[in-house]
Amino acid sequence: MLFGISVEPWMMMWGGVFLGVLVAFQMLGGLRIIKLKGKLHLKVHRGVAWAIFLGGLAHGVMGFAYFGRI
Ligand code: HEM
Repeated sequence: MLFGISVEPWMMMWGGVFLGVLVAFQMLGGLRIIKLKGKLHLKVHRGVAWAIFLGGLAHGVMGFAYFGRI
């Protein structure tokens, strides 16, 4: 239970899949397999990095809540 919502396995699964997809795209961008114009490229790389970081943190907290450790 987190903020009155019970964490279900499907939430963890789709959250994990989503984060994995974000990391894959971040790698494709980092390796310049996907390119964006000029400064936008780094802006998106940095933005997605924050999304992965905050999403990963939320995923971890939800994981702890799922196993009843918080
Ligand atoms: C194979 C994977 C990756 C490669 C080759 C790569 C490559 C790069 C390169 C070359 C830069 C320097 C900035 C530029 O010249 O565009 C950079 C910056 C950065 N990368 Fe990646 N990247 C990869 C994956 C990731 C991942 C998975 C994350 C985080 C989840 C990440 C986060 C960042 C951040 C925060 C910066 C600094 C941006 C800034 O200068 O403010 N990168 N990356």
